[in-house]
Amino acid sequence: MSTRQEKILLTGPTGFIGGRLLHALDDAGYSVRCLVRISETLTIKGAPLKQKPGIVYADLLEPDTLSQAMEGMDVAYYLVHSMGGRSIRETMAFAERDRRAATNFLRAAEQAGVKRIIYLGGLGETGNKLSEHLASRQEVARILQSGRVKTTALRAAVIIGAGGASFELVRYLAERLPVMMCPRWINTLSQPIAVQNVIAYLVGCLDRPETAGLTLDVGGPDIVSYADLMRIYTRVRGLRRFLFTVPVLTPRLSAYWINFITPVPAGIVFPLVEGMKNEVICRENRIRELIPVKLMGMEEAICTALVETEKGPGKLPSQQACFLRR
Ligand SMILES: NC(=O)c1ccc[n+]([C@@H]2O[C@H](COP(=O)([O-])OP(=O)(O)OC[C@H]3O[C@@H](n4cnc5c(N)ncnc54)[C@H](OP(=O)(O)O)[C@@H]3O)[C@@H](O)[C@H]2O)c1
Repeated sequence: MSTRQEKILLTGPTGFIGGRLLHALDDAGYSVRCLVRISETLTIKGAPLKQKPGIVYADLLEPDTLSQAMEGMDVAYYLVHSMGGRSIRETMAFAERDRRAATNFLRAAEQAGVKRIIYLGGLGETGNKLSEHLASRQEVARILQSGRVKTTALRAAVIIGAGGASFELVRYLAERLPVMMCPRWINTLSQPIAVQNVIAYLVGCLDRPETAGLTLDVGGPDIVSYADLMRIYTRVRGLRRFLFTVPVLTPRLSAYWINFITPVPAGIVFPLVEGMKNEVICRENRIRELIPVKLMGMEEAICTALVETEKGPGKLPSQQACFLRR
């Protein structure tokens, strides 16, 4: 059992996963310091950042800002990626930025004597056919695990929850298009997981010291294609939709098209769509014994996300997910 004495540094608290994890760690009684990039306008849990205690302003791409953030911390969560921007061009160098961010983070953690890093990255097998996004998520895991700090790397496929980039893609497409032209890889298999289950695993790692240093796959109980995911969504919502595949739809073309239909920027859509070529299925399930949680099936996960969506902006930690800022 954790003593709840550990001091925790949380990166990405303005993001989809980090925002929810902040609430969960708070509820579990942990003392959390949030690392955020400078912003006058962002809020966490309804309060302006500058008025909240436990905030440290830093940027993983600015190594000089990190020592203060890491000082006195026992555990550091790494919930950051560098994809984004309104165009594919803006997101192009994300892998290089993520390489630098992970290297800076590890170095600062080592210098500060941080005992554990917990990272949430992506599933997908290694090899030269892996998309740049998935390869980059694995590279970040390798960098973080190459140092003296014991790093737990959780690997997930699509995470279902209101405000999550992948879920919002499915939601907007299904809601707006009665007929959908889909790329061939809409039939690729994936093992999505509900965000509530991911958060339970991320918190659970703290209570389970034996997870330190391990790489663990996390997935829900259902293995489905992206087309199945869309069908489950439309069934749950009672929508009548037609999906058909078009052989010529490249990831770039799909990204621009999806960007036109949904508020998710091309800089996020392109790497995600490119990653849909790769099967993302758990290769092992040790986490289920280490941290038993009741896993949600896809229908339940989607229903839960829809209920959260209904609550409207302002009530969810994920409201600040970058694509919802537009
Ligand atoms: N969402 C999914 O479906 C999914 C699936 C599998 C794995 N994951 C993993 O989960 C983790 C979190 O993803 P997410 O979906 O929560 O992403 P997100 O909502 O886009 O949030 C990303 C966070 O990273 C922060 N950030 C980016 N660059 C930074 C930098 N240089 N310095 C400090 N902070 C920086 C952002 O801060 P700003 O607010 O300042 O931009 C934001 O808080 C990632 O490692 C991702 O690979 C997510």
